[in-house]
Amino acid sequence: MKILVTGGAGFIGTALVKRLLKDGHHVRVLDDYSRGVPERLKSIAKEIETIQGDVRDFAQVDAATKGIELVYHLAAVNGTENFYKQPDRVLEVAVKGTMHTMDAALKHGCRRYILASSSEVYQEPTHVPTKEDERIIVPDVKNPRFSYSGGKIIGELLALHYLAKRGVEAVVFRPHNIYGPDMGHEHVVPQFFERLAPLRAQKKTGVLPFEIQGDGTETRSFCFIDDAVTGIVLVAEKGKSGELYHIGTEEEVSIRDVALLMAKIMGLSIAIVPGKRVEGSTPRRCPDIGKMRALGYNPSVDLKEGIKRTCEEEWKKFQKAS
Ligand SMILES: NC(=O)c1ccc[n+]([C@@H]2O[C@H](COP(=O)([O-])OP(=O)(O)OC[C@H]3O[C@@H](n4cnc5c(N)ncnc54)[C@H](O)[C@@H]3O)[C@@H](O)[C@H]2O)c1
Repeated sequence: MKILVTGGAGFIGTALVKRLLKDGHHVRVLDDYSRGVPERLKSIAKEIETIQGDVRDFAQVDAATKGIELVYHLAAVNGTENFYKQPDRVLEVAVKGTMHTMDAALKHGCRRYILASSSEVYQEPTHVPTKEDERIIVPDVKNPRFSYSGGKIIGELLALHYLAKRGVEAVVFRPHNIYGPDMGHEHVVPQFFERLAPLRAQKKTGVLPFEIQGDGTETRSFCFIDDAVTGIVLVAEKGKSGELYHIGTEEEVSIRDVALLMAKIMGLSIAIVPGKRVEGSTPRRCPDIGKMRALGYNPSVDLKEGIKRTCEEEWKKFQKAS
């Protein structure tokens, strides 16, 4: 099948592109490399088509969608700092970019369109574990933080009531904290790693103080990249048009325990020091993945194993760089 992956040079995009290629598809990537890097696709560069372009530019999206049957729309401006500093860009990419990819899918008669949304659409869910029919919300329109989740909510509405209504099958997936090697910097796992790695390199002993945001009792569930990609492909193959699906695991863990686990895996002993809680952050989030299980989804990498694999890969890179 001829497939377009926008944001294909990003963390999830790269893993998805590699998987699609392995499954025998013809893959085209559209990415402006604002966050993703072409080096990530180096090992498969000859086997895929890559277009450096911006989803905010319709002519570029139009050209990239020619001959395409299935679109995975992953391009988005991620990173909490960007939500505060560039809410205009976050929204423009989310709204204009999503609209452009949908209009191009309509123009070129694509069969299916898969949209990457986010667990952020729930902000503070009323039920945990959270089902896909939980209400979604922008709690404060004046707070730029919600430019990201607001953009995702608009994308979901467009997928279900604009695109699917006009005849292109549209399915939405909501990832919950995907992690793994080479995931960039703006996430809790790499941020902890970047602080722990120098301590390991300096062979620090004893109990080391380790400050975290808040008191660390906030919970999340983390999903290893390989499981996430398996889920995303399953959504594209078996998901029902007009439906939303979680990508994640039901292993709810506190941020404090993630830090302790990472330190242990890296041979360090730490004592958590509570820090300032980030405004707008959510105390508890964990998806119910029953709807995905019904499609045959069964995540197989638990947090301990996934963190171990991630730390090992990142440690090799850290040693090479230092
Ligand atoms: N990683 C997670 O845990 C997570 C959680 C929830 C939702 N998501 C969503 O999943 C998708 C993939 O996430 P990721 O972690 O791989 O993020 P990422 O930042 O690594 O990838 C996004 C890609 O989009 C590209 N991009 C940004 N603006 C663009 C533009 N204007 N035109 C073309 N390309 C542009 C970036 O260069 C990057 O390669 C995103 O839509 C993200 O919002 C991810």
